[in-house]
Amino acid sequence: MLTDKIQMVNTDDLEANLDVQETIEPSKININQVTLKVSKVTEILEPERQRLFEIFNKFKFIILECDPLPNLQDNLLDLKKFFGSVLRHRRSDEHGIVAVENLYNSPANNVSRSATNRMHPMHTDGTADIDPPKVVALQCEINSHNGGYSQIVYGESVYDYLMKNHPQELQKLFTNPVSITNLGGKTDTRPIFIEKEGRILMSFKADSVVTITVPPPIEKVFNIIKNYVNDPNNQFIFKLKANQIQIIDNMSVLHGRTSFPENEIRKINRLWFDGISEYTHQLQFGFIPKSKLLNP
Ligand SMILES: [Fe+2]
Repeated sequence: MLTDKIQMVNTDDLEANLDVQETIEPSKININQVTLKVSKVTEILEPERQRLFEIFNKFKFIILECDPLPNLQDNLLDLKKFFGSVLRHRRSDEHGIVAVENLYNSPANNVSRSATNRMHPMHTDGTADIDPPKVVALQCEINSHNGGYSQIVYGESVYDYLMKNHPQELQKLFTNPVSITNLGGKTDTRPIFIEKEGRILMSFKADSVVTITVPPPIEKVFNIIKNYVNDPNNQFIFKLKANQIQIIDNMSVLHGRTSFPENEIRKINRLWFDGISEYTHQLQFGFIPKSKLLNP
């Protein structure tokens, strides 16, 4: 039941907005729709570049399949041209790349999940950073035979689910910031949903390896979101192959991965981008809700 403070408005009733797209259902995505084969990132020509952005803007992520290169990380680094400057992480190498692989550290809880073979619950990256990356690129160097599945969940699905089932709780998410302190000691505090220039952006992490302070008014809905995003029925699940790069809109797509066996090797190279390139105006981050709360 909606109160008078919370009104659902169909955006069709508002001024016509040509950017409004159909909601994508994760279970209906075909991997071929989101995969683009290119030879080398530096050799991407204009039609391919347009196709890349078309898929990225429509599905909020893309899998770029490249020919093998002697130094495959060049393809990852060359994405700067499209997705902007590299943002560093405490585990970045000199190029900004973070190795996501099992480093066989102690299984204790204070080890970053990206350095283990453990499952990684659904999250957006950089939740403890003042400026989280707009784009996250995950390049597969080696995947494990078993496990190691990639998962994504749309922020828009979470929003729609809450709008339908918990509208009052949804409203609170815009005004009750969550504080997250990561293992490197960085802290940031921001609401799970933010509205910016008509688009909704989402950041979320629910993980015992970091310190998360959830304000009491949203404790209940925080757990609802945690359960929703970690339910495989709400995810698109696939397996990255060597030389494929998954590029994600980190402003509205959560990602995670399933665990893989201790005795198997899986190596992913991760790179963060700020989204500011000569093509910024052609990239769409976040989503426009089909129905929205007035004055969130
Ligand atoms: Fe991540």
